[in-house]
Amino acid sequence: MTIDAIGLMNLAARVARRAGDLVIEGRRHGDLTVDTKSSATDMVTEWDRISERTIVDAIRAARPDDGIVGEEGTDVESRSGVSWLIDPIDGTTNFMYGLSGYAVSIAAVDGVGSLAGAVFLPATRELFVAARGRGAWLGGRRLTCSRLDYPTTALIGTGFSYSTTSRAAQGERIGRMLPRVRDIRRLGAAAPDLCFVADGRIDAYFEENLSPWDLAAGILVATEAGAIASDFAGGPPRPAEILVAPPALHPHLVRLLAD
Ligand code: IPD
Ligand code: CA
Ligand code: CA
Repeated sequence: MTIDAIGLMNLAARVARRAGDLVIEGRRHGDLTVDTKSSATDMVTEWDRISERTIVDAIRAARPDDGIVGEEGTDVESRSGVSWLIDPIDGTTNFMYGLSGYAVSIAAVDGVGSLAGAVFLPATRELFVAARGRGAWLGGRRLTCSRLDYPTTALIGTGFSYSTTSRAAQGERIGRMLPRVRDIRRLGAAAPDLCFVADGRIDAYFEENLSPWDLAAGILVATEAGAIASDFAGGPPRPAEILVAPPALHPHLVRLLAD
């Protein structure tokens, strides 16, 4: 049976928008109860949970045989071969502080990888979507990543882990990289970072210690816009290490990350 990737993309888009509208309204008018998770800086609000519930209910109603894994605890096995990876609010720290850089990220995956995805930024109402082999779009505009081929003028996004020991090593790496690139951006949410590579708002992005739901939608948006995704050594991308860059810039960044 062939899978309708565009249909899955449209479902992800619809549901991401619904959840995003809910959380931005909640942030404006509702209470903000905050709990911590893996460390004192890893937070979850009731809106992360409400967003996940909204997304799960909508996907289960539309596709009852699909699996679903969500950051806030959803774990449903697939009977169809398709599963959904959900980050109900990617960039919870930004969300908590009233900063605009957060998103709802939803992807459908199969045995090969991401099939379809949507990343919705409620504060700017930008909706990034992609379907495997069919392209990536922001609204009606087809996305293509930057064509940069040299790191000296590259604007590079990254993020820092919630683990304090990883942060020390990440800081040292940034220190080595900073003199060799245009500048570094830490915007605060992995899924939008990946979409911004697709749109050329940053030239490249790398991060380590992510989770599958951080990446699944954004990586498809970036690669369908022409970017190469890998681990830091140039091998297959994985949540533990992700580097996304335009084809001609990518080998330079592999070298920089190895230093
Ligand atoms: C986090 C954000 C952040 C990244 C962290 C992620 P969360 O997701 O994407 O940019 O640096 O590693 O865990 O916790 O806000 O969903
Ligand atoms: Ca996340
Ligand atoms: Ca999250």
